[in-house]
Amino acid sequence: MAGALRTRRVFLIGFMGAGKTSAGKILAQRLRWTFQDLDQVIERQAGQSVAAIFAAKGENAFRAMERAALQEVLSQPLDSSGGMIVALGGGAFVQAENRTALERAGAITILLEAPLEELRRRCVKDGNTRPLARDADRFAELLAQRRQDYERARFRVDTNAKSLEQVAAEIESILRDFVKPEVEE
Ligand code: S3P
Repeated sequence: MAGALRTRRVFLIGFMGAGKTSAGKILAQRLRWTFQDLDQVIERQAGQSVAAIFAAKGENAFRAMERAALQEVLSQPLDSSGGMIVALGGGAFVQAENRTALERAGAITILLEAPLEELRRRCVKDGNTRPLARDADRFAELLAQRRQDYERARFRVDTNAKSLEQVAAEIESILRDFVKPEVEE
């Protein structure tokens, strides 16, 4: 065991189907940190699924809720576990205001990547419930539009042909390298 990682807020970003939620849960278990999924925070607060929010109120209203939920998560104190892992929805990091808030909070952002076909395959496998993943052309366009913003993340992990456990282990090793000078105090 390489010593406990210092207190951190780690945000997983990337497109729909990148594995942010699934890998994030495993990572949080490995580190014994807390895990939150921003979409689930929004759903809890709204008492509605993301798909229902999109249908009833539209995407702009969802984005406002997403910004508010992110502010709230960023203002939460870290508990005794020492760190938090947060999976962001695929559009959260694309909003400049959210990127600024993350940067100001000193959050570590990690981009999970995969090729378009693989992202699509994973979303279809999930039942294609995501409002912005229903149309294959729109899905591809959106990824192309967002790529540059995603690349502003602090670190990147290629998830293609890797198990969720492998992805989580890779993120853990990035975090261990990143905080090395601050580890053993
Ligand atoms: C979205 C991604 C979804 C969810 C919403 C919008 C997007 O989250 O926030 O459907 O704009 O890419 P996941 O990336 O967790 O699927």
